[in-house]
Amino acid sequence: MAQQRKPKEHWNSRIGVVLAVAGGAVGLGNFLRFPGQVVNYGGGAFMIPYLISFLLIAIPIASTEWALGRYGGRKGYHSPLGVYYAAGNKSAFWGLCGGLSALTPLVISMYYIFVEAWCLLYALQYLGGLLQPLGIGYSLLDNVKPGLDLKSADAYGALFSQTTGMEADGSIFRTFASPLLVVTAVCAAANFYLIYRGVSKGIERFSKIVAPLILLCAIFVIVRVLTLGNPTGAPGQSLLDGLGFMWNPTREVVDAATGEVARTNLFDSLLNAETWLAATSQIFFSVSICLGATCTYASYVRENEDIALSSVTATSANEFCEVVLGGLMTIPPAIMYLGAQAADKFGSSFSLGFVVLPNVFGEMPAGQFFGFCFFTLLFCSAITSSMSIVQPTMALFQDAFGLTRKKGIALVCLVVLTGTAFVSWFSKNLAALDAFDFWLANFAPFLGGVFQTVLVAYVWKLSNLRQEWDRGAIVKLPRILGPIVKYVSLPYLILIFLFWCYKNMHGRLQEVAENPVTQYSLVFIGVLALGLLATSYAVVRRWKKEDKV
Ligand code: ALA
Repeated sequence: MAQQRKPKEHWNSRIGVVLAVAGGAVGLGNFLRFPGQVVNYGGGAFMIPYLISFLLIAIPIASTEWALGRYGGRKGYHSPLGVYYAAGNKSAFWGLCGGLSALTPLVISMYYIFVEAWCLLYALQYLGGLLQPLGIGYSLLDNVKPGLDLKSADAYGALFSQTTGMEADGSIFRTFASPLLVVTAVCAAANFYLIYRGVSKGIERFSKIVAPLILLCAIFVIVRVLTLGNPTGAPGQSLLDGLGFMWNPTREVVDAATGEVARTNLFDSLLNAETWLAATSQIFFSVSICLGATCTYASYVRENEDIALSSVTATSANEFCEVVLGGLMTIPPAIMYLGAQAADKFGSSFSLGFVVLPNVFGEMPAGQFFGFCFFTLLFCSAITSSMSIVQPTMALFQDAFGLTRKKGIALVCLVVLTGTAFVSWFSKNLAALDAFDFWLANFAPFLGGVFQTVLVAYVWKLSNLRQEWDRGAIVKLPRILGPIVKYVSLPYLILIFLFWCYKNMHGRLQEVAENPVTQYSLVFIGVLALGLLATSYAVVRRWKKEDKV
């Protein structure tokens, strides 16, 4: 007779699940990545594919992943490997796909913790500045003078490069007890400790404590932004102009060579494959779908507890935090102080968050305090998210090898920190981090999304999906959601993915060919993928044997 596996852990309360999942979803993606993508892909022109992807991908696939996860949990599996194996009629193929999909959260967690450490370090710098009047604080930011011409961004940029080791590979390892290394170790230890405590005693409790803190910091910053008026008095730099930058589908740009002003063309923006890929991958990253996190968290929901309402609540809370809070806190103040024409110089999401915004805080009345609130918010939201992407690896080791929590977390620590060390060593121009981020956070979720949706729609079947949604549901999800997953979300994903491959894959591969660190990063990822495949193969074979006994 087949052995019955039992669920290993459960969440304690429904509010706890929603807060933990929403906490996992709301993170750097909402407050750093989203504003950066909006600025880089044309403001409102980005919001069109973004909102389409939210409707066609986020809502249907998030609720699908909740169902898939809880089904796997009921069968005693908590990792993507086990969940896919259970839903895929215990076939080796789906087990291997699940095992490989665990690569995404594993690799993301390796650099996510490193970025989380930057946020903590900046929060501490602002705190140091705040404490200075009491004679006990010190802040590196004090040596940098802000300015509205963005020339001062060079000074902030230099500080950011120096802090993160962007100047040369291995530079943050050259100083014994470098601040960033110490803070990274603290962040990693906090993550591993909370995960070791378990889903209810560690992750759930911590999410309940930290959620009000995130909200409080957000309220402080937003009230400040809303009461700034027109801080410089320059035309086109009011709050409405800041919001208009984010929502108007076209905007005026000045030609650097001729000085002529022209309006961007919406159709050109919409025909840019990168915009669609960026918008859809932003949805994957921010809602935490096809990253292993939602599936793993859902596997700890008790078998007769609601998932329908919880999934919609967590997804909506994430969107609120991203579009309303994240959108208000970052882009409008940058435009209000620096003007829309400066947006082309804002650079990447990191540069917006760690170079442009410190410049703005430097000019803002009580900017030290609001800078502190902003980076504290970034750090708190990052830690709840990093836990959600480390937990799938913990679940994988526990499912695969039946490890105790202590042994499981020791192995997780070893693997994740190897990757974090790799990313922080190859820090020149953040080349390794960028490679990890592009291939795992932009590219892999598409493939993962396609495989996961095929599994649900064609193997597990929509009838099982509906049953799972309805089990313990407080509010029933509309029936149409199943066919939407199968006939709309799946083709949409494939279409955008092929469109992007056709237009941009060549350029990306050329970039890989030209940059040795990107090549090392891909080799590193390849080795991890092979390790996961080999482990999954051995584990699936063992499970199959056990099932036959
Ligand atoms: N969903 C998480 C974030 O947005 C990973 O940061």
